[in-house]
Amino acid sequence: ETGCFTYDPGFTSTGSCESQITYIDGDEGVLLHRGYSIDELAAKSTFPEVCFLLLNGHLPTAAESAEFDSILRRHSMVHEQLTRFYSGFRRDAHPMAIMCGVVGALSAFYHDSTDINKPVERKIAAHRLIAKMPTIAAMAYKYSVGQPFMYPRNDLSYAENFLYMTFGTPCEPYKVNPILAKAMDKIFILHADHEQNASTSTVRLAGSSGANPFACIAAGIASLWGPAHGGANEAVLKMLEEIGTVDRIPECVRRAKDKNDNFRLMGFGHRVYKNYDPRAQVMRQACHEVLGELGIKNEPLLDIAMELERIALTDEYFIEKKLYPNVDFYSGIILKAMGFPTSMFTVLFALARTVGWISQWKEMIEDPVQKIGRPRQLYTGETRRAFVPLAERG
Ligand code: SDX
Repeated sequence: ETGCFTYDPGFTSTGSCESQITYIDGDEGVLLHRGYSIDELAAKSTFPEVCFLLLNGHLPTAAESAEFDSILRRHSMVHEQLTRFYSGFRRDAHPMAIMCGVVGALSAFYHDSTDINKPVERKIAAHRLIAKMPTIAAMAYKYSVGQPFMYPRNDLSYAENFLYMTFGTPCEPYKVNPILAKAMDKIFILHADHEQNASTSTVRLAGSSGANPFACIAAGIASLWGPAHGGANEAVLKMLEEIGTVDRIPECVRRAKDKNDNFRLMGFGHRVYKNYDPRAQVMRQACHEVLGELGIKNEPLLDIAMELERIALTDEYFIEKKLYPNVDFYSGIILKAMGFPTSMFTVLFALARTVGWISQWKEMIEDPVQKIGRPRQLYTGETRRAFVPLAERG
């Protein structure tokens, strides 16, 4: 004992780690959402359906799906005064900085869905957040490129609407490319939820104090922004661009293994997966499909990524440390091919992860034994000592 508090390893930050939403087997590389495998959901479902599944625990019937889809379309517009919020940012503000600010401000516009003790307000908040994130994200992009905001259209699907609001302009009709819309929907599914990752734990901890759901999601966005977490997708593309050519990969792998060099292979490794991240496999396949369908025959970054994966997965360091590509390794290549700047990559991650955050928040709030999260510590500082007046401190 050195005067430290007793550390209770069983104590959890939010009072409970139990959840029925997402299951990960890191050793086997398995990811299930409410029992359905991520590769099946990505191949056979749609993002709105997966949102319904995460929120409600079952896949929607045709009637439930139609009603939920209609709710998302009807809630997709934002309060008109919110559009003026953007003009307070510099044009070169990182879109994630805008997302943190604008989403945190939502509780100032939607007072009728902030009382967490009222189930109907909780439900409306969840629907508003999922429905409005594409509009808010697209506006962050439009603001950064100096183009006018595009209002959502109720005749478009969730993914189509986001592409329309991002890349459409008032000057001419925008024809949504079905290939891009399908790829966008799949990318949203792959990012929807992932158990108790750093940003989800942030949302749960913020929510455990009774904070309103909009503030909790803003906290999750802030946590996701870090390059060790959701910010990795932007960092992967920068890394691939810095590598530049396939023959510079061995040096990059050498640096990643050098403990004295804080260089890390972005998009590689994971706290939980000690096998291939199943989302990365789906993403890699989608990468080939989208580039092929867009007629992009030669994407040097994809060649570098594929060669980097091949070399790393045969290197004893990566094998011993069980480092595999994660969800962020290939996503940036698709997003670049779709026309997004790297600064929007983590914004898209936050857009998609909002349903996971708010589903986990809802599960926690509805837990009857939920208490405020209060992580304990292992104190390693000074033991008690007498105060020394300034004159006697030498
Ligand atoms: C996401 O938690 C989630 O679920 C997150 C996420 C989600 O959907 O919410 O999956 C999304 O955040 C994916 C991760 C994206 N981040 C990156 O790609 C950044 C690069 N990856 C690393 O920073 C790292 O792999 C972490 C942060 C993801 C995990 O780091 P840890 O906790 O150190 O991983 P570990 O303990 O398993 O590492 C084992 C060893 C360590 O060396 P030793 O301390 O044992 O000597 O491998 C090393 C690490 O230093 N290592 C790497 C490495 N990742 C880990 N070495 C080189 N390159 C890497 N990328």
